[in-house]
Amino acid sequence: MNDKKILLIGPNGQVGWELLRCVQPLGQIVAAGRNGREHGQAYMDLADPDSIRNVVRDIKPAIIINAAAYTAVDNAEKETDLAHTINGTAPGILAEESQRLKTLLIHYSTDYVFEGNNTQPYTEQDAVNPLGVYGASKLVGEQAIQAIGGHYLILRTTWVYGLRGNNFLLTMQRLAKKRDELKVVADQIGAPTWSRLIAQATAHIIAQLYSPLYSSDIDGLSGIYHLTCAGQTNWYEFAKTIVAQSEKPPRVLPITTANYPAPAKRPAYSVLSNAKLAKTFGITLPAWDKALELCLGAYDV
Ligand SMILES: NC(=O)c1ccc[n+]([C@@H]2O[C@H](COP(=O)([O-])OP(=O)(O)OC[C@H]3O[C@@H](n4cnc5c(N)ncnc54)[C@H](OP(=O)(O)O)[C@@H]3O)[C@@H](O)[C@H]2O)c1
Repeated sequence: MNDKKILLIGPNGQVGWELLRCVQPLGQIVAAGRNGREHGQAYMDLADPDSIRNVVRDIKPAIIINAAAYTAVDNAEKETDLAHTINGTAPGILAEESQRLKTLLIHYSTDYVFEGNNTQPYTEQDAVNPLGVYGASKLVGEQAIQAIGGHYLILRTTWVYGLRGNNFLLTMQRLAKKRDELKVVADQIGAPTWSRLIAQATAHIIAQLYSPLYSSDIDGLSGIYHLTCAGQTNWYEFAKTIVAQSEKPPRVLPITTANYPAPAKRPAYSVLSNAKLAKTFGITLPAWDKALELCLGAYDV
């Protein structure tokens, strides 16, 4: 099993960095990124189709994990073409290459494919209707992979944070050191999800699919799965929980989305149901607050 090649695209992002560590026991990892050459990795720029094809054809992986994406939600409103190239076109090229090699493609997507009018967790069957360019571009990527078919898993996740990268946890911790008061949006509801748990769940899925003990047919499992921490909260409550751990916690005040205008519209409610993932793979992530506690504890390790 360990001679299986796993191509990991985007090894320096929040999820990719954790994946690089979590999938090590599962095969021979080849990491690829747009600055790959500087890090002794393969060069792959998702905005450069030839680089995608060259790396996949050269490596001939058994599994491709695409953790790279254009994730700057507000900038995407201006850089529409680039967002669509990276999030919409590139996944389709990966799916074509993957299908030629009969490779399993694991790709990540987002809650921002939903409009946010639900009052109960979105399932994989619920209608999509992204509010902004980022969500729309990620949806195009999902649809491109689905149209090509083959062996694929699209894992939609939400509100990703971790110990590195650009994320809400690190921003709140930084601001808590500088300010006495923080104003945070309280009318967007979702599930913060620790990047390490996304990576660990992905590794568990791969281990199951390639285990000699597992008899399911990968073909029948291809599809979209929601993969998030359990429970729900809003950014204001999430911020309060984060800064409560700081030396001198600032006051946190709730504001509305209307008080904090941003270029991209976000869904007011984007909690995802993880029932399909639990039923298919027996994997359930902990509640968001438990996961945050574990993540903050990881600083001490
Ligand atoms: N962040 C969230 O809150 C969130 C929420 C829901 C879903 N997701 C999805 O989860 C997945 C992982 O997100 P993340 O938070 O880990 O992202 P991230 O931390 O922003 O990392 C994205 C990675 O993509 C790479 N990348 C960007 N453009 C590229 C290009 N043209 N060619 C090659 N690599 C490129 C970046 O490379 P560099 O290191 O060179 O910059 C970076 O390492 C993505 O599919 C994202 O859409 C994220």
